[in-house]
Amino acid sequence: ENSDEAYRPNFHFTPEKNWMNDPNGMFYLDGTYHLYFQYYPDDNVWGPMHWGHATSKDMITWEEQEIALFPDEKGYIFSGSAVVDKDNASGFGEDGKTPVVAIFTYHEPKGAEKGEKDYQSQAIAYSLDKGMTWTKYKGNPVLPNPGIENFRDPKVTWDKEHKQWLMALATTEKTLFYTSQDLKEWKKVSEFGQGNGAHDGVWECPDFFPMQVEGTGETKWVLIQSLNPGGYNGGSGTQYFVGDFDGTTFTPEENMTNLEEKHDYWIDFGRDNYAGVTWANVPEEDGRKLFLGWMSNWLYAQEVPTETWRSAMTIARELKLIKEDGQYLVTSQPVEELQKFRSEPVRKSTLSASKDLKLIDTSAIDLSKAEVKFSISGLEEDGNYHFTLSNEQGEKFVVNYDHSEQKFSMDRSKAGANDFSDKFSGTPSTAPRITASNSMEVHMLLDKTSMELFIDNGKTVITEIFFSEQPWDTFSVGSEEKDFMVDSFEAYELNFNKQ
Ligand code: FRU
Repeated sequence: ENSDEAYRPNFHFTPEKNWMNDPNGMFYLDGTYHLYFQYYPDDNVWGPMHWGHATSKDMITWEEQEIALFPDEKGYIFSGSAVVDKDNASGFGEDGKTPVVAIFTYHEPKGAEKGEKDYQSQAIAYSLDKGMTWTKYKGNPVLPNPGIENFRDPKVTWDKEHKQWLMALATTEKTLFYTSQDLKEWKKVSEFGQGNGAHDGVWECPDFFPMQVEGTGETKWVLIQSLNPGGYNGGSGTQYFVGDFDGTTFTPEENMTNLEEKHDYWIDFGRDNYAGVTWANVPEEDGRKLFLGWMSNWLYAQEVPTETWRSAMTIARELKLIKEDGQYLVTSQPVEELQKFRSEPVRKSTLSASKDLKLIDTSAIDLSKAEVKFSISGLEEDGNYHFTLSNEQGEKFVVNYDHSEQKFSMDRSKAGANDFSDKFSGTPSTAPRITASNSMEVHMLLDKTSMELFIDNGKTVITEIFFSEQPWDTFSVGSEEKDFMVDSFEAYELNFNKQ
């Protein structure tokens, strides 16, 4: 009980009790962001899935609500999405109330156990009180199983350009696209992805939407596609593809038509960001693409050393699409709403660093709720740089950057409890640096049990959890071989006392 609360994040969403995995059904309406999630209220491991529910005004501070969807005789309630049906295309609206429609997968456990193939189908439910209570549609399933094993995680969006509801659905080795006018009748229009990209596992939890390329009037479509196992560092991971969509077919960019198994297009390279998708119905005036993922990995999620609750979500992030050297990249940054929780900054002017430069110790900032930003200039061709979180107990989490290889590696083998699974820290994870520049910007977000690194304005993102026995008291940077410069250092303690 005690250590459980010691591991509970200060500002990342966790369920009060028991098991959580994927974010589901995220939508915004009238000032409130909704987050539903795969939830098993009766145990601290995966089980018959419900949709739990939480709400927020800022995507940072969350309030858990009543369970939104319960399993029934048709099956468990697996992952899916929700849309705000403004024009009442579904016909669920009554007395002028706007229906919110959830589209989810029914998973029929007995069929799955018997080794049948058709145990997953798509179903809908609607809410007339802005997402607080839900009614399942009597005509479910709306998309019966056509004989495909692993047929799940519908992500529906309103495709404004082609005036249709558009569903991306995952199967083992590809994404299927369906369209509808009323959210009840679905027609398959195309599929994508077989033989392209990472496939060392089952494709799950897709998302598909248009984005404007930063600084241009150009629009491209982005397909986010999680898979498990087979992620960048094994286990769970989320890759993406960029291309064009004509209302029927998704055509990836030339350089993404034939991606290798090990490619560089990942929403996050760390081990702990899975099944992430974007919020529906964000107002056009806002225009942001807002994303959040499950901050764990199926390799060890059910064994991590908390008992009364399990798993947190990542910080909410803004995705951007940029074009650099002729290629499209999806970047992420923490949502700007986080900034209002910053205390007075601790700033340092240009510093010359060598072996080990202490940038923060606890007297300055509580590293269990902190944002740290700095840049390094003059990276040497063959330089190796490290960023280290440590404490007096000798625990440490080390991120190394090898500039000759342009590669990060993350070692959490001494960062606290890890004996619960040999998959957790047996080998360091790695991440490519996406740009070759010899100066680097680092933006780090720290909670009690997680580190989120947004490098080079979010081109390389690394999210990893840890279970240190004691809080970090020091953050340092260094290089064994060379001197280098640390510029524009600033750090903030984040304070979440309810205003
Ligand atoms: C991804 C996933 C989904 C599925 C859900 C079940 O983590 O396996 O594909 O809908 O979890 O909880």
